[in-house]
Amino acid sequence: MRTKMVAGNWKMNKTLQEGVELAAQLKNDVKNPKCAVVIGTPFIHLATVAELVKGSPIKVAAENCADKDKGAYTGEVSAAMVASTGAEYCILGHSERRAYYHEDYEILKNKVELALANGLKVIFCIGEVKEERLENKQNEVVKAQLEGSVFHLTAEQWANITLAYEPVWAIGTGLTATPEQAQEIHAFIRGLVAEKYGKQAADDTTILYGGSCNEKNAAELFACPDIDGGLIGGASLVPEKFEAIIAAR
Ligand code: 13P
Repeated sequence: MRTKMVAGNWKMNKTLQEGVELAAQLKNDVKNPKCAVVIGTPFIHLATVAELVKGSPIKVAAENCADKDKGAYTGEVSAAMVASTGAEYCILGHSERRAYYHEDYEILKNKVELALANGLKVIFCIGEVKEERLENKQNEVVKAQLEGSVFHLTAEQWANITLAYEPVWAIGTGLTATPEQAQEIHAFIRGLVAEKYGKQAADDTTILYGGSCNEKNAAELFACPDIDGGLIGGASLVPEKFEAIIAAR
């Protein structure tokens, strides 16, 4: 059976000290979660936070990695560097990276390959913008995103991919996809994975929902058969809220 998961994405929030404080509180409070728990932190937090949560059920993710292996790329952080901090996951393809930092299918394909080659598991984000949803194009958008960056992977590599469906119009807006909307597209995505990698692999693929998922709506979303957990932005910065979402899974 596939892994159920609640993952946080801190985005560009928290100083190192604030992040350590948040991670310490989560470590203290989250002792026996019924699902996998991952926190995505800025690069500078990774080593300290990974060391802090070592031996606890909490795993750590980077929010990005470079699309190059190593060398003269000032300011970039490679997948090997991420792995060397003790982080086990890397979030890639987030809509904010696609929109603000022009990460296209090819760039993301390179990032995914480098992350996997360095032993990281990838949380790969897909999702449509509001205009695409209004034109009912969400299915073709997520299909193109998968085909463009991850559907070339081998079945063996695919086992290290977690998907996160995040409708861009729901991120940070307080507008959540309804459970029906989310379930419908999650089932469609799982169907695409089945076509590509077979039914068993599709059944084993964890597909998270993200976009204004919070302690109030999480249980209803997680009750849907194809929603395996959440990728949480704002609410992951508040321990009580993040812990309530974990408890809802
Ligand atoms: P919010 O939960 O703040 O809407 O953000 C979702 C998200 O982008 C997680 O990656």
